[in-house]
Amino acid sequence: MTKIRAAITGIAGYVPEDKLTNADLEKMVDTNDEWIRARTGIQERRIVKDPTIATSDLGAEAVRELLRKTGTKPEEVDMLVCGTVTADYRFPDAANMISYKVGLPNAVGYDVNAACSGFLFTLITASQFIETGKYKKIVVVGADMMSRIVDYEDRATCILFGDAAGAVLLEPNSEGYGIHDSIMKADGVGLEHLYLKAGGARYPITHEAIDAREQFAYQNGRPVFKSAVRGMSGVVKQIIEQNDLTPKDIDWVTPHQANQRIIEAVANMMDFPMERVMVNIHKYGNTTSATIPLCLWEWESQLKKGDRIVLTAFGGGYTWGSILLTWAYDGE
Ligand code: UT7
Repeated sequence: MTKIRAAITGIAGYVPEDKLTNADLEKMVDTNDEWIRARTGIQERRIVKDPTIATSDLGAEAVRELLRKTGTKPEEVDMLVCGTVTADYRFPDAANMISYKVGLPNAVGYDVNAACSGFLFTLITASQFIETGKYKKIVVVGADMMSRIVDYEDRATCILFGDAAGAVLLEPNSEGYGIHDSIMKADGVGLEHLYLKAGGARYPITHEAIDAREQFAYQNGRPVFKSAVRGMSGVVKQIIEQNDLTPKDIDWVTPHQANQRIIEAVANMMDFPMERVMVNIHKYGNTTSATIPLCLWEWESQLKKGDRIVLTAFGGGYTWGSILLTWAYDGE
C-alpha cells in the first residue's frame, strides 16, 4: 500500500504594517542599533499598535489569504490547529477563534503551546491526522503577538520580538512528497531561563506580580543561546543521518529565527552554506510560532517540487525539534 504523507500544499503569511526599528528602541531603552545588529541580526520588527487587534486577528488574516490562494472552500477544512503562546485569552484557544472569525463550519481545532517550537510541533501534530487518514484538509497556523507580553523596559528581551502569523494547508500525498520524518524533544530544565511567570496557576496575576513586572516574558539569553545551538544542530544532524542523507542532499534549511548568530552557528556545525538557509530575522525579529511559516512564505516562489527541506526550532520549555520534508509543488 502506498504510504500517505502529509504535504504542505499552500502557504500564506501576515505581518502588521507598523515597524519598530532599532532607532525606535534606542529612544525606549539603553541600547543601540550597532549592538542589536551585531548580537542578533535584527534591524526591525512588525508590531500591532491597535489595541483592539489580537493574535487570532493576525491568524485569521493569514488563513483567509491561504484559502484564497489555494482555492479552498471554508467548509472543506476539517481541522485548524494553532501554535501560539499569546492566544487572545487564557481560554478558549486561538484556534477556535480563528476558525470562528474566518468561518470554517467544519473545522475542529486547538492550540499547541511549545513556545518558539510552536509551529514545528503543531505541524507534526496535524500531520498525524493526515497520515492516519482521519482528515483531508488541515490548516496549520503559527501566530504570536509578542508585543503584548514583552517588557519594553527590559533591553535584553524587548529588542528581540515581533508580531506575525503564518498558515499552511496540509493535505494527503501518496506520490512521496510531504513530511518524511520528524524529531521532537523537550526538557523542563529550561524553565528557569525562559518563561512568563505570572498569570498561570502557580503565580496568578497580583498587584505584587505587576509591580515586579512578572506579567512579561523573562529570558536569560546566554544559556538559552548555548542550548539552542546544541539542540538544533543535534536534531538537524540526527534527522539527516537517520534518513541516510548528508547535508549536501538538503536543498534548504528553515530555522526558527531567534538570533542570526544561532542560525549561523547551526549552519556552520552542519557545514551547510548560508545561501541555502532561510533567514529573514533582520525584517521581522523573533515572531515565536510564526518564524518558520514566514520564511517558507517568503521563499515559496523559489521552491521546487521535490526540494528537500529541513525545518528546525528551539524554544521555551525547553522544546526543540526538526522535520524533514519534500516540497510538494513548484513555486510561481
Ligand atoms: O526563541 C526562543 C529561544 N531564544 C533564543 O534562542 C535567544 C537566545 N539568546 C540570545 O539570542 C542572546 O543571548 C541575546 C541576544 C538575548 C543576548 O546576546 P548575548 O550576546 O548573549 O548578550 P549577553 O546577554 O551576554 O549580554 C552582553 C552584554 C551585557 O553587558 P555586560 O554585562 O557585558 O556589561 C548586557 O547587559 O550586553 C548587554 N546588553 C545590551 N547592550 C545593549 C544586553 N542587552 C543589550 C541591549 N543593548 N539591548
